[in-house]
This record gives sequence, structure tokens and C-alpha cells, in this order.
Amino acid sequence: MIDNIPRSGRLLRGRAAPARRSHTLRYAHIVGWGMEVPSQVLTNSDLEAIVDTSDEWITSRTGIKERRIAAPRETTTSLATRAAQKALDVADVLPSDIDLIIVATATPEHIFPSTASLVQDYLGATNAGAFDLSAACSGFVYALDMAASKIQTGAINTAIVIGAETLSRVVDWADRNTCILFGDGAGAVVLRGSDTPGGVLSTVLRSDGSGWDMLTLPTINSRDTYLQDGTHELHRIYMDGRGVFRFATHVIGDSIRDALAQVGLTPDDLTLVIPHQANQRIIEHAAKALKIPEDRVYSNIARYGNTSAASIPIALAEAVEQDRLHAGDIVAMVGFGGGLTWAATVIEWTAVPSRPAYSITWGRRQGAYAYAGVRRPLVRWWRRLMLLSPTTWILKARAYLRRRREQLSNLRGPKGN
Ligand code: UT7
Repeated sequence: MIDNIPRSGRLLRGRAAPARRSHTLRYAHIVGWGMEVPSQVLTNSDLEAIVDTSDEWITSRTGIKERRIAAPRETTTSLATRAAQKALDVADVLPSDIDLIIVATATPEHIFPSTASLVQDYLGATNAGAFDLSAACSGFVYALDMAASKIQTGAINTAIVIGAETLSRVVDWADRNTCILFGDGAGAVVLRGSDTPGGVLSTVLRSDGSGWDMLTLPTINSRDTYLQDGTHELHRIYMDGRGVFRFATHVIGDSIRDALAQVGLTPDDLTLVIPHQANQRIIEHAAKALKIPEDRVYSNIARYGNTSAASIPIALAEAVEQDRLHAGDIVAMVGFGGGLTWAATVIEWTAVPSRPAYSITWGRRQGAYAYAGVRRPLVRWWRRLMLLSPTTWILKARAYLRRRREQLSNLRGPKGN
């Protein structure tokens, strides 16, 4: 797919050789995309039965009509893995070709190991490094920049960047200020290196930790969850909605303009803006701040609510599927949220959308996933066995044989019967 990437019209016309990129050898292109959302839908009417709210209030204040909720067996890892597999299908890339996996998430399954490590194992991406990135709703743009930078320096060639969340597990279902907002899901992109100009052009990353308490999800050891009796209460999302709203509307326009300016572009050059899906009113504000028509700002908040780090890659995957992006288009993505953090990136879209084909590579990918599934328990058992010293080995074997002998003699019954 990378060989089909058309040369950048805009950059070749001499408009914008980004100073920051002049020393780089490679370009990082998005060559695959995918999304996964749980099938369980929670509508505004359903919420009316849980908290004191109404469909009218939620729709008019947020634009949200429904959100997806993970089933008991669905996890951040399972959603992330499925989104990554779909992105690999589009890119037609083998798991063994992946050099780096980054999962941006605020709802990892563990503090450690990283969700990315679990995804790496499920994909059978045996040559990949993996880590999680914590920047709340800005996480996907941060992670995209980390992966793109590694590709641009030539250190790696292929990366998967995933945004994945199961926010329904950390929402306070008694708090109507927050529980109506959030949903679950995952989105992923495959990034690949090429000498052809285009792909990720520029990124702006920002943080203001003085606003840390405006949007928080404490861990179990946080001072926020400490109780008088020395125990900790269950951690849940807290948000100062009005404060975060004000912050978001301040930073969206400026950060996109800054990222555009790095490569000599202006909002008029934008084909599409993909903002973090937090509130329809914020999305509309983005169009006003950039002085572009509203239909150039992508919105799917009505169907998924706020999926934090997953919202931008989910929206991107949908936008491509809806034929909203074509080779040569300039797209900006902007994230904002807990930290406070915010981040914007400008991308020259270069991929030519193609349906995933059932090719030999597709078969090899399925083989890699199946092999990873078989390998996982075997390696775990083998590792446990290898940890034992020879003496422990002999003692364990003798204990096992003794147990078996006892079981057999119990089955035969007492002697003499
Ligand atoms: O993803 C990270 C980034 N997050 C964001 O960007 C979120 C930004 N903030 C927002 O989107 C909005 O501030 C909210 C949607 C969270 C809230 O909307 P708002 O227009 O700022 O409402 P508010 O918090 O100012 O509350 C207005 C009223 C209050 O009642 P009083 O005090 O005026 O009597 C709330 O108690 O609405 C009440 N209210 C509700 N009423 C019905 C708050 N939540 C609800 C609810 N249903 N679910």
C-alpha cells in the first residue's frame, strides 16, 4: 500500500517544507485503521431509569443520544485487540512486522502490565515493543506523535497506535453530571514509514497540571480516595464540567492553528477536523474558532458519547469508511482533557482506502493470532517449570507420584475387600 502513496501536491508546490522535519529521513503514513465498539447500547431513555435526567437535557447539552457499554467479558484489551486486528487487515500488515504498539488509555486493566503488552501477545506481534500512554482524552494524539517520531527518525518502520477505553467500569452511575457522558470503545491506526512525503506533518503537545483536579480518575492509592478509617474508597471519575468546557473551547482553535502553522498551512487548507468527541457544543465551537463550515468537523458523539482516548481513532475510522478522506487531503485531529492536557496534529492523508481482502497475508495473520492463542498457555507453563530448581523438580515429581498412588489405592478400596 505504501508504494501507492501519491506524492504530496501541497508540499511539492513549495508551500511548506516544515523546518522541524527538514532533518528527518522518513515520513510516517497512516496505512490502516479500525474500530471496535461493544454491541450493548445504553440510550438516554435507559439512563432516565438510573439517574434524575432526561433525553431532552442530555441531547440539548451534549448532543449524545446513546453510548456503548462493554459486556462483562469485554475489556480494554479485547476491544483494543479487535480494533488493531481490523487496522492490520486494512493495512495488510503481518503482526510480526509491527515494531511498536502504543495503547492510549485512561482505563487500563492493570497499572502494570500495560494493556499494550497484552495486545502485543494477543496479536502475536513478537517483534514489537509495547507501552501504555496516559494523557486522558489527548492520549491518542500524544501516542500518534510518539510513534510517528520514531518512524521519522528511522528507528522503526511500523507501529500500531490504539485508543481504547472501558469507561463504564469507572463511571459513578449515581452521578448524573458524568454518567450520561461516557461510553466504551477502541480505535486503532497502523503507521508505516516511507520516503514519500505526507502522513503526520506536525504535532503540538501541551499540558497544564495546575488543572489536575478538574477531571480526575484516582487510582486506589490516591490521596483523593483516602478515608478516615485508613481505607480507600472505590475510585470513580470526577469532572468539573463547566471548567473543562471553558478550557476545551479555549485550546481547540489555538492548538490546531499552531500545528498548521508549523507546516505553513491555515484552517482553509483543512478538509476535515476530527476533534475529541466530548460535547456537540464543543465540536460546533471548533468550527467557529477555525472559521470553517461545521460539516468539515467530524461528529459521531450522538452514537458513542465520550470514549476518551478512543474517540478520535473511532471517528477517523468512520470518516474513512464514509469516504470523507481522500489522498492529498489535510486533516487535523485535536484532543483535550484530563491533565489538563491538549494536543493537535496535522496529517496529509495518503492512504487509498481499500476493503480488506482475504489474501495470503490475511491467512497468515489469522495463523499468527491462532498461534499466539496456543503459545500463550504453553509458554506460561514452560516458564513456571523453568523457574523450578532440579531439587524442587524431583520433590514435585515425587509428591505427584505419591498423590497418584494414593488416588489409585483409594479407588481400589481397602486391602482384603
Ligand atoms: O473528555 C474530556 C473533556 N470533557 C469535556 O470536555 C466535558 C466538558 N463539559 C461539558 O460537556 C458540560 O459542562 C457538561 C455536559 C458536562 C455539563 O453541561 P453544562 O451545560 O455545563 O451543565 P452544568 O454542569 O452547568 O449544569 C447545569 C444544570 C445544573 O443544575 P442547576 O445547578 O443549574 O440547578 C445541573 O445540576 O444541569 C444540571 N444537570 C443535569 N440535569 C439533568 C447536570 N447534569 C444533568 C443531567 N440531567 N444529566
